[in-house]
Amino acid sequence: MASVRVRVPAKVNLSLAVGPLRPDGFHELATVYQALSLYDEVEVTDRSDGRGPVLAVGGRESDTVPSGEGNLAWQAAVLAGKVFAREPDLTISIDKGIPVAAGMAGGSADAAAVLRATSQLWDPEGTGDVELLEVAARLGSDVPFALLGGTAVGSGRGEVVTSAMGSGTFHWVLALSEGQLATPTVYRTLDELREGEVVPPPHVDPAVLLAVRTGDAAALGAALANDMQAAAVALMPVLEMLLDLGPEHGALGSIVSGSGPTCAFLVADEDAALELAVALSASGLCRAVRRAVGPVPGATVVE
Ligand code: C5P
Repeated sequence: MASVRVRVPAKVNLSLAVGPLRPDGFHELATVYQALSLYDEVEVTDRSDGRGPVLAVGGRESDTVPSGEGNLAWQAAVLAGKVFAREPDLTISIDKGIPVAAGMAGGSADAAAVLRATSQLWDPEGTGDVELLEVAARLGSDVPFALLGGTAVGSGRGEVVTSAMGSGTFHWVLALSEGQLATPTVYRTLDELREGEVVPPPHVDPAVLLAVRTGDAAALGAALANDMQAAAVALMPVLEMLLDLGPEHGALGSIVSGSGPTCAFLVADEDAALELAVALSASGLCRAVRRAVGPVPGATVVE
């Protein structure tokens, strides 16, 4: 039985501008994604026994991850079967290192890993003309970025991704909050907060892209912005207190990651990361603290 192992990163949004609600139920976005060094490892084995996808999830917090059709990785296996014209008789073993339901796109990452793995298993030379980014977009707004990695601009509902030029490495501290926030609920809350307002089309702040290009952490820290943050804080007020700890303990910028509830803090270097991590842990306001760097590559086959 052939097996492929893929390592896939978490993401943070350096900038997340949310435009109006579209007729299809999604919001028009202008965002800058960065892939961070928190990884899931996904092993995909082709059994060819006619029994369809089988999923096993282990690792950190894996007890809350669905193990059947409700898991985006399962859906990715079925879709990959269709586009590569194969039976999706795949055993998918996911080792979670990305925080679950945290606003760091862990579910999307696993789906991207399954696409990368099936492409390697079923079309290693890339002759089948399957456009993986396009297939990924059919699974979810964040899935194409998990394939691409690095730093990238996202438009449309987030699924249209273009790599951004960058230099240097940024240091991050992630505070994992108690509880979870469902992405659709956060979008709905944002719509309620903005009721009666005319919401302009979203755009990416050029200061974010300039800071990424020059590797200027102080400038990036000052430019971090997330329209979803007000909604996440309205649903979970403790996030405001958590974010306030950043500047008190040397962070260059503090932001809710995606739809939350993880808070992401940009710091100058590893020493600053350690100092802030200690302060966040001691605050008792979060359940765990992780350190990471970015940008890192997207879903990659591990030899
Ligand atoms: O694309 P994905 O499946 O990750 O989206 C989950 C949900 O988040 C959507 O059903 C929608 O309610 C909301 N969403 C949105 N606008 C986006 C992306 C997601 O409203 N651009």
